[in-house]
Amino acid sequence: MAAKITLSVIKADVGGYVGHSSIHSDLLDTAKEKLSHAQEKGMLIDYHVTRCGDDLELIMTHKHGVDAENIHNLAWNTFVACTEIAKDLKLYGAGQDLLADAFSGNIKGMGPGVAEMEFEERKSEPIIIFMADKTSPGAWNLPLYKMFADPFNTPGLVIDPAMHDGFVFEVVDVYEHKKITLSSPEEIYDLLMFIGAMRRFMIKAVYRKDGMLAAAASTQKLSLIAGKYVGKDDPVLIVRCQAGLPAVGEVLEPFAFGHIVEGWMRGSHHGPLMPVAFYEANPSRFDGPPRVIAAGFQLCNGKLIGPRDLFDDPAFDEARKRTNVIADYLRQHGPFEPHRLGLEDLEYTTMPQLMKKLDSRFIPE
Ligand code: F6R
Ligand code: MG
Ligand code: MG
Repeated sequence: MAAKITLSVIKADVGGYVGHSSIHSDLLDTAKEKLSHAQEKGMLIDYHVTRCGDDLELIMTHKHGVDAENIHNLAWNTFVACTEIAKDLKLYGAGQDLLADAFSGNIKGMGPGVAEMEFEERKSEPIIIFMADKTSPGAWNLPLYKMFADPFNTPGLVIDPAMHDGFVFEVVDVYEHKKITLSSPEEIYDLLMFIGAMRRFMIKAVYRKDGMLAAAASTQKLSLIAGKYVGKDDPVLIVRCQAGLPAVGEVLEPFAFGHIVEGWMRGSHHGPLMPVAFYEANPSRFDGPPRVIAAGFQLCNGKLIGPRDLFDDPAFDEARKRTNVIADYLRQHGPFEPHRLGLEDLEYTTMPQLMKKLDSRFIPE
């Protein structure tokens, strides 16, 4: 049996430039230096450092499996080193996603977002890593459903015998800390009842019916870790493609829609998710609108051949245009719902304080 490799994507916002709009190149250089050192020591097979908006993204391949303490520690130390640079430059919100004082075995629950998968590399292994800024992990629910359960998006579900049996979705209830596995196509109505509620239920992984792992997403919610609003979670997602899995084009297709997600200004607004080329991933208008980039790689014995900037394609121009129109339209609602999130979504912001302050002034009507 071929040896398994692990792909770990670990991200954090450790300082914005300018404000929360983008990242300073010194942070990227520092992260590359740290990971290069780890590669020289033999801990990593390969790595790629990139960013989406103000989020620093560490993409690493290795043989240590998921939740490996040494890999998580490496990511943590890298974020700490980058935080030092961010502090030196007085970048905005230096270290904002590092919610713990010191590393304690697993980076999950400490602030950074994590998507990892361990698998046997196929004869050819095309993968896409999606990285988003100014939104939360529920943003992946709709595109994952379309990729793996909707034949109007993915004709392979109908045409390719290897996919015809469908896929299994692992869905996490981030409030109750429990998960459920639901099967498509048999249980899609049950599945949609949950994943349509993107704030609470998030798709964490997708498997083919024969057990092959096809996708893994980060589901960390900073506010639930910190107990208060400390920025949005800006999620990542890994999807394996082709040869009995959705094709690269089927995996990208849901993002031509520009669906509405939560996030944007102060993590408190609904806005359209705009698919952009790497160089355009600098959300500045009203701190947004939310962005997603798609980095395509061919794995070669664990080496990351790439990335290809997959949204750098004029075929996504209409989606970009449409999301700008939707952004204009939503902005005109100002502080009114549904542009602003509902009250229950603001429970980790200053809303509870305001309610407390005004509580005594409410009288029976
Ligand atoms: C959204 C985000 C920004 C900030 C906003 C206020 O995820 O990061 O929209 O919430 O710029 O930031 P502070 O409170 O740091 O001034
Ligand atoms: Mg930030
Ligand atoms: Mg961010």
